[in-house]
Order: sequence, then C-alpha cells, then structure tokens
Amino acid sequence: MPIDILQTGKLHASCEAALAQRYTVHKLHEAADKDAFLAEIAPRIRAHAGSGVQADLIAKLPKLEIIASFGVGTDNIDLKAAKAAGVRVTNTPDVLNDAVAELTIGLMISLARRIPQGDRFVRDGKWLKGNMGLFSELTGKTVGILGLGRIGKEIATRAQAMKMRVVYHGRNRQENVPYIYYDKLIDMARDVDWLVLIAPGGKSTDRIVSREVLEALGPQGMLVNIARGTLVDEPVMVDLLVNGGLGGAALDVFEKEPQVPEALFALDNVVLAPHQGSATHQTRDAMGATLVANLDAHFAGNPLISPVV
Ligand code: NAP
Ligand code: 8YV
Repeated sequence: MPIDILQTGKLHASCEAALAQRYTVHKLHEAADKDAFLAEIAPRIRAHAGSGVQADLIAKLPKLEIIASFGVGTDNIDLKAAKAAGVRVTNTPDVLNDAVAELTIGLMISLARRIPQGDRFVRDGKWLKGNMGLFSELTGKTVGILGLGRIGKEIATRAQAMKMRVVYHGRNRQENVPYIYYDKLIDMARDVDWLVLIAPGGKSTDRIVSREVLEALGPQGMLVNIARGTLVDEPVMVDLLVNGGLGGAALDVFEKEPQVPEALFALDNVVLAPHQGSATHQTRDAMGATLVANLDAHFAGNPLISPVV
C-alpha cells in the first residue's frame, strides 16, 4: 500500500529525492488551486514532511499520524493541537549543532572585527583614502549564553577556543558543566561583554531579551541572535543600536523573516545574516536524512529517531 504524505513547502533536494523514492508525495505549495488540491488528497494523508504546521491544517487531515519537521526548532508547529489529535512530531536535532555554532562564532568575529564592513571599505575604494580604524576582539572577553543546550554547548566550546570566558543562563542550573550559572538573565547581561541567544522560540521566551536586559548589556555590549527573532524586543533593540545604548548586534534571525528592520541597514555596528545557521550542504543533507529516518521508523513500527517531547 502506498503511503501518502503532504509537503507544504519546498524541502532540501536530497530530502525530497529520498521522500519520493519511498512515499507518494503531494506538494500543496505547487498546486494552482490549493483548496481543491487539499480537499482531494486530505483523506489519504498520513504524514506531513516539512515545517510550519498549524491547528487548521491538522484539523483538515483526519488520517494524519506524524509531522516530520525539517529543523530542530518546533515553534512553528502547534504541538498542543498535534497532541490533541494523537499526531506524533519529530524534528532534526544534533546534526546541525556544529554548523550553527560555527556560524555563531563567524558572526561574532565578523562583528568584533567589522569583517563585512572591511570588505565593503576595500571594494568601495575607501582604503585608498586612509585606513579603516581599530575595533575589538573576542580574546579575553566574557560571553553569556542564553540556552546552554545542544547548540549552546558547541558554541561554548568554540568560544573557549577563542580564549573567551563562558557563563550561561537557562531555567535550570546544569550538572557537570564547567561554566558559571546565572539564574537571572538580567544579571548575566550586566556582567558579560557578549550575549548569545540560542534558546527555543515560543511563548516561554517571547521578548525575554527585553529593554531592561538590553540596557543591562549596555553601550559596550554585543548581542548575537542565532535562535529566533521572537526572543528579542526587536524595536527596542533597533532603537538602542541607533542611539548607542547597545554596542552592536550580529543577527541571523528576525521577528518577521524575511523582513528586516530597515534602520539596521545603515548601521556599522551590525552584522546581518539571512537565517543561515544550518545552511550548509552537509548539514541540510543530514537534516533531510533525519526527517526521512523518522518517517521510515514510524511506518515500520520502530521507535522514532528524534521524537519531540
Ligand atoms: P536545546 O538543546 O533544547 O537547548 C535549548 C536551551 O534553551 C536549553 O539549555 C534550555 O535550558 C534553554 N531554554 C529553554 N527554554 C528556556 C527559557 N524559557 N528560558 C531560558 N532558557 C531556556 O535546543 P537546541 O537544539 O540547542 O536549539 C536551540 C534553538 O536554536 C532551536 O529551538 C531553534 O529555535 C534555534 N536554531 C536556530 C538555527 C538557525 O538557523 N539560526 C538553527 C538551529 C536552531 P533549560 O531547560 O534549563 O531552560
Ligand atoms: C531551519 C532552524 O529550520 O533548525 C532550526 O530550528 O532554524 C533552521 O535549521 C532551517 O533553515 C530550515 O528551514
């Protein structure tokens, strides 16, 4: 019996190829009349592959058994609705830790040393008129990590290799980690030179990096957001960056992607990336393989590889 699965957005090529080999894949995003397409296939759909599944879609798929998400963050899936409907959810943790940690350190060095600005300085011929100036370095600085989880720990290891001192905040103090724990984010923000955000999105972290936290980080402080835009009070962050209340920011994620506050474009103390944390061939292949392995496990009646709890 063929197994019908639904895709609602484009996926990484190797993932799509593997899905097509095993399953009957229906691509809603490619349909001209999406309502008619969904009405026709909905009764047969047993799995969703991709990301971004809300309650209204779950309600339209009576035979849905599993949502296999492409990515580790599950803030774009209605987990409550999935649970209520008896639908399992999987994600792609761990395989992306290195890529995301690598980009984090890359953004930090880029911001400290103004690497993108230096590139523009050379291309624009400004070097011919004089030197660019002096900036800061990571060596000897303290970095506070909000969310010392799978990715946070990889960032911490790399930050230590940059000769930084690492501290962290989360809801819980962790056993067996060699870093100082802060039970209050604002206290950590006050004490660090760099604040790196790598906790999940969703209600519990919504604008957790508030005006008070940003002001505690202060005019010399550097913010790195590689988590989700929703963690930060974005308008306040922009205002502080413009007015010198915050030293700088390196941002991979934004509140309303791909919309980025235009005020940031003019600022030299900002480095921007278009949500590229996991965006390498190697890591996206591994994420796709994890997604497919979860579906295969489910339909073979085996334990899931990475169920979301
Ligand atoms: P993880 O292993 O679950 O770690 C999350 C950490 O956040 C944990 O240490 C947790 O500690 C902490 N945390 C959770 N809720 C919190 C809260 N309300 N307040 C403070 N700390 C909280 O997750 P991960 O695999 O490292 O991934 C983290 C997130 O990174 C993902 O959810 C995703 O949104 C983001 N991400 C972004 C990219 C990108 O491309 N930019 C790529 C991959 C992932 P406690 O439980 O002790 O609080
Ligand atoms: C995206 C991410 O999922 O894993 C996550 O939570 O944010 C990224 O890896 C990826 O860009 C796919 O959309």
